[in-house]
Amino acid sequence: MRPRELLAARRARIVFDTAGAFRRKTGRVVAVDDISLGLCENETLALVGESGSGKTTLGLGMLGLRSLSSGEVVWRDRALSSLDRDGWRTFRRDVQVVFQDPYGSLNPRHTVARILRRPLELLGAGARSEIRDAVADVLERVGLKPAHLYLDRHPHEFSGGQRQRIAIARALVLKPRILVADEPVSALDASIRAQILELLIALKVHLGLSMLFLSHDLGVVRLIADRVAVMYRSRIVEIGPVADIFTRPRHPYTRLLLAAAPTLRPDSIPEAVKAVIGTREGDHGEWPASGCSFAPRCPIRRQVCSKVPSLEPAGAAHEVACHAAGEDRN
Ligand SMILES: Nc1ncnc2c1ncn2[C@@H]1O[C@H](COP(=O)(O)OP(=O)(O)OP(=O)(O)O)[C@@H](O)[C@H]1O
Ligand code: SF4
Ligand SMILES: [Mg+2]
Repeated sequence: MRPRELLAARRARIVFDTAGAFRRKTGRVVAVDDISLGLCENETLALVGESGSGKTTLGLGMLGLRSLSSGEVVWRDRALSSLDRDGWRTFRRDVQVVFQDPYGSLNPRHTVARILRRPLELLGAGARSEIRDAVADVLERVGLKPAHLYLDRHPHEFSGGQRQRIAIARALVLKPRILVADEPVSALDASIRAQILELLIALKVHLGLSMLFLSHDLGVVRLIADRVAVMYRSRIVEIGPVADIFTRPRHPYTRLLLAAAPTLRPDSIPEAVKAVIGTREGDHGEWPASGCSFAPRCPIRRQVCSKVPSLEPAGAAHEVACHAAGEDRN
């Protein structure tokens, strides 16, 4: 039986108008193109792709923070577009987010206690004593204990790793079931990164979370993900169980990525590989008007690639969008 999807994009498309001088509309960027993707109960689904591929835009769309140009986001079988006020309140409790930058995402003027109380107060959750207990509990869950040592301090009094723990605590204080984590460890040093990853893995197990984890970093993804979706220029080109993606990648782009570098940060990809996969953020000039968007760089493209490939099954729970995926090249 297919596991239950808690949060899903259905044929989601997000298009931005780009503005030139005097805010005149000059063009359009299709940041998310016809994506269907479901996050299942208790799983970590990683979305990987180079800078500008559309990960954050899709994540914001699934959080209801970015309008879709077409398609739908479905949460627990309900379309976000159909939610009433109460529905949105429940959604906001159930689905939380952690961003990359623990410096920018915490208000520097507020104490930790205030930062963590705020989501509970906004949703009118409980009496003062309950809120106090919930705040202390969540702080200890993220490893800042005993909580009373931290509650009255401000974000600037913490290290980057501690700040990210506070950001995670803020996301968890409402006891969500779904966490969207957008590059949550990429601003941290390697040793701190490992600690925060361990924390996220432990929290996921103990709290029964489902996590949509957006990342450049294939090493991190390999550690944390159950399933991996590879995004290339606004589309999912391959999706499957983490072991399959890393040991039997089927899409030429996934193969190149795995061969290229442990991380997809532009500064870590060798120049020779950049030339093949392309890494320039926002560079949409070379996209073909139709057909597979990877075709200009694909070493095995053929005539049929002038048609857009759709995701097709390529093994158990594994799907690939490539006309050549049926050819076994392993
Ligand atoms: N508000 C916006 N207005 C116009 N274009 C945008 C906007 N937000 C994103 N884009 C464009 O949409 C595309 C996808 O951007 P997005 O931030 O989702 O990529 P990303 O995969 O998260 O990249 P990164 O790894 O650098 O965070 C990019 O070309 C970006 O320039
Ligand atoms: S569809 Fe064609 S161009 Fe696109 S990745 Fe597959 S072989 Fe390459
Ligand atoms: Mg991003």
